Amino acid sequence: MAELIKRTHYCGTLRESDRGERVCVNGWVNKSRRLGALVFTDIRDKTGIVQAVFSEGLTDGIFAAAEGLRSEFVIGVTGRVRARESVNNGIPTGAIEIAAESLTIYSRADTPPIYVRDDDNADESLRLAYRYLDLRKPKMQRNLTFRHTVCRVTRDYFADNGFTEVETPMLIRPTPEGARDYLVPSRVSKGNFYALPQSPQMYKQLLMAGGTDRYFQIVKCFRDEDLRADRQPEFTQIDLELSFTDEDEVIAVNEGYLARLMKETKGIEVSLPFPRLTWREAMDAYGSDKPDTRFDMKIVDISDAVRDSDFPVFAGALADGGSVRGLCAVGAEGLYSRKDVDKLADKAKESGASGLIWIRLSVEGIKSSVGKFFTDEQLLGLAARFGAEQGDLLLIAAGDDAVILDALGRLRLLLGEKLGLIDEGRYDFLWVTEFPLFEYDKENGRYKAMHHPFTAPYESDAGMIESDPGRVRARAYDIVLNGSEIGGGSIRIHDRDMQDRMFRALGLKEDEIQEKFGFLLEAFRYGVPPHGGLAYGLDRLVMLLLGEESIRDTIAFPKNQAAEDPVSRAPGEATTEQLDELGLALL
Ligand code: AMO
Repeated sequence: MAELIKRTHYCGTLRESDRGERVCVNGWVNKSRRLGALVFTDIRDKTGIVQAVFSEGLTDGIFAAAEGLRSEFVIGVTGRVRARESVNNGIPTGAIEIAAESLTIYSRADTPPIYVRDDDNADESLRLAYRYLDLRKPKMQRNLTFRHTVCRVTRDYFADNGFTEVETPMLIRPTPEGARDYLVPSRVSKGNFYALPQSPQMYKQLLMAGGTDRYFQIVKCFRDEDLRADRQPEFTQIDLELSFTDEDEVIAVNEGYLARLMKETKGIEVSLPFPRLTWREAMDAYGSDKPDTRFDMKIVDISDAVRDSDFPVFAGALADGGSVRGLCAVGAEGLYSRKDVDKLADKAKESGASGLIWIRLSVEGIKSSVGKFFTDEQLLGLAARFGAEQGDLLLIAAGDDAVILDALGRLRLLLGEKLGLIDEGRYDFLWVTEFPLFEYDKENGRYKAMHHPFTAPYESDAGMIESDPGRVRARAYDIVLNGSEIGGGSIRIHDRDMQDRMFRALGLKEDEIQEKFGFLLEAFRYGVPPHGGLAYGLDRLVMLLLGEESIRDTIAFPKNQAAEDPVSRAPGEATTEQLDELGLALL
């Protein structure tokens, strides 16, 4: 085994000021080639790359060994730093090189199945299967280091503000977050199962009952749900809870956190306070509870302007209690052909809308798919409602409020992206408040909690819990960054009667309540402070701050789309002995 060369410097840190110094570096061969009497070897570690040069005059077989270097060999090199003849401005160490005096080969490498380069375009499945090679790439090193910095700033901020980090258990009873649980069979208590936490929700509430006052934790959560680019079955939350608090305090504490995070990780000063929209306002203006406010293009309700129209689609929608709403794509008239607009209509239909009506304000005059039903003057009147001008394209949908808002919200994002309206360098934070307490679950024909069943209603709305649950507003808030929900939370119910009413409204029977939440309710009998909190999705937050498209690029060893770990190939089979011990049999 080769003896270890003690490192004096990281590769990427060497500069002109180190000229003349004798240094030792350790790392991977990024690239090595012989040119005449010299071997040029780029050595890479987590900080970057430096060039070492071996000359033919080196004794003890060093030159021959250097000639044999291949990509990803792990080596140590000792030598003196000198100026380079031809400077490479592409890398920070490009003005210098190491005139090598010794070479230690720690390990050799087979030809790697992926290139260790940021511009490697290997398929993601290959990248994930050989994650340790993928992680050697500068971008992945940067991402992991950035994530570490986010965690460090988070711990500093919350510690500075009187929060205590407390760990909560991983083997628990099912949590109320509403996704599918990952279950772990118990060996000791055969036939019983632990659930892995979907969040520490009930434990953080118990901590408030336990007098912790201000709690936070950077914690793994597990949800067996369908994967998307911004979801993982195993993800990390920055979870927090405060006693004797209200919405304004939770929001202020978190604005302080996000401002410090932006400053310390991105060098960006954000202006506080962040804007707030109620859920209703967000839905009406943006067709989304997580609006991307980096561009304007708000949805406009034109129901009253078309109330007397004979156009059957409008008349029908209004008669059914729906509405007529639209978007104005500024300057887009000439950019969208008839076919392009048809494609947009198809998109709207995918969201359940019955179709899309267009009005074009072209140089030749006003044109519309509903030209037969409206005079030019009437169309101009509608256009005026949007503040539209010549060159603009109006897209209008009619029908059930929720359906058309969703459809227009999605179109708005498509148009914003296509028309280049989104300033990628911007970070728009936004609070969305006053969510509905319940949402109607059509499949099961009953109401379910929109956030979770411990979220408090507004006192003024509580009277409607039994009579009109759909109208009750929750003391819940989400924090949105550039159109993504990065966190959410609420003020909790700390009153037993209110909690009982909430459970009953959710259709839970007494034995179910006791079975699922009995321990929390029991704790609340012995004195519980008013409390509330919030949890961020750490992976998602890091993804947005890094400008990455996929949450997987922020996690060292993520799961793939099939929820498998491609490196260890989990999940795997259990042996018969293991199953026997657990008292389980496979069907
Ligand atoms: P919630 O369920 O909204 O709230 O989760 C909080 C935040 O966690 C992130 N998140 C995810 N990130 C990656 N992959 C997933 N599968 C995933 N699911 C959620 C989101 C989300 O905003 N206990 C409550 C919080 C509270 O009330 O304090 C909770 O878990 O960014």
